[in-house]
Amino acid sequence: MDTFESFLRTAPGEDLFAKCGRLCAALGTGAGAAARGLALRAAGPVGPRTLLAAPGEKPRPFLMFGSNSYLNLGTHPAVVEGARRALERYGYGAGAVSLYAGATDLVRELEARIADFCGTEDAIVFAGGYATNVGVLSALCGPGDEIVNDSANHASIFDGTRLSGADAKVFLHGRADRLGRLLARPPAGGGGRLVATDGVFSMNGDLAPLGRIAPLVRAAGARLLVDDAHGIGVAGPTGRGTAEACGVRDLVDLHVGMLSKAPAGLGGFCAARREVVAHLRLYARTYFFSTAMPPPVAGGLVEAFRLLAADAAGRRELLRNVAALRARLAAAGFELGPGGAGIVPVYVRDEARLAALHADLLAAGLYCNLVSYPACRRKECRLRLCAMKSHSPADVEEAAAILAALGRRHGVVP
Ligand SMILES: Cc1ncc(COP(=O)(O)O)c(C=O)c1O
Repeated sequence: MDTFESFLRTAPGEDLFAKCGRLCAALGTGAGAAARGLALRAAGPVGPRTLLAAPGEKPRPFLMFGSNSYLNLGTHPAVVEGARRALERYGYGAGAVSLYAGATDLVRELEARIADFCGTEDAIVFAGGYATNVGVLSALCGPGDEIVNDSANHASIFDGTRLSGADAKVFLHGRADRLGRLLARPPAGGGGRLVATDGVFSMNGDLAPLGRIAPLVRAAGARLLVDDAHGIGVAGPTGRGTAEACGVRDLVDLHVGMLSKAPAGLGGFCAARREVVAHLRLYARTYFFSTAMPPPVAGGLVEAFRLLAADAAGRRELLRNVAALRARLAAAGFELGPGGAGIVPVYVRDEARLAALHADLLAAGLYCNLVSYPACRRKECRLRLCAMKSHSPADVEEAAAILAALGRRHGVVP
């Protein structure tokens, strides 16, 4: 059977594009079943019932349990109004990179709000989330330095690590003891050391054990980057994220977050000491050489952070829905990943069974994410459900009932 790797490389003597043709041929067969769910298009705003369309088909409403818009801020009236005002005042696009006057005063306001939210001196906003990690890591680290990654970190952290040219080390996911062993030796290249971890892990739903990691990093004289893409607005007593949940906000040196998940816009940020942010503005190539955030996005995000800062964006309702979903799925016999934020992983552990189950879920009108290699190990393949603030108790009940019935049919639960 063809796998993801089958289409990664050009075979000896083959034309560069031959693998693309082979991939398309495979997608047209049963082997492409898993990928067909990836081709659905949204035909309306993201909400508990979202209009989705398969290629060539009419849109139909799906119970939406596959969005990272955890707090539904993308349709919040204040956020939409902020984006509309910005559109009318500044127009649609930035027209230039930030340092060539592409950044509007809205972006500056957003940076100040983010710094305040994270409790740091300053913050820098990037127009892309993936580009944030790539830019931050490659600006601050170089040959001779060392970057130590959790093995389950997001691809953008690994890609930034590679681009930086620093020595790359990896510790087993969530294992502070393994990290401690790595930190016991000085960096081989003699330079500085950065430990990077997701806050909430996007495919597992668990929180990094920052309560143990952050003091270790500090004691070793290294620096700590936390990418809390899925924790901002969700985790912690006031929604400040995983570091707040673990009580170590002051021990994080680089607070990275994505503006595309709970804040519901696009882009990313790094909040840190003033001099570090100043350095990033000049040396993060994905900032320096990339056009600034479009004004309507910045305008919406300013309002989103106003709500997040006041913890008035609906975190409690979201967490209520997560708890209800987890309770119902656990009662149905599913093996769930750890909780702590808006992500509920449901393990299937067999790729063929997962693909068949996912196809039936789509047919039944429930949309959730299929997570398989390379996003996770094959034997850990799973469904990923994301609850949202705007789900009603009936939505949660219906989703769990559909999953339980089809889980039984496919032999995932007894
Ligand atoms: C942990 C993490 N970091 C970075 C990103 C990249 O963010 P974006 O999708 O906004 O580029 C994502 C999401 O895709 C993520 O889950």
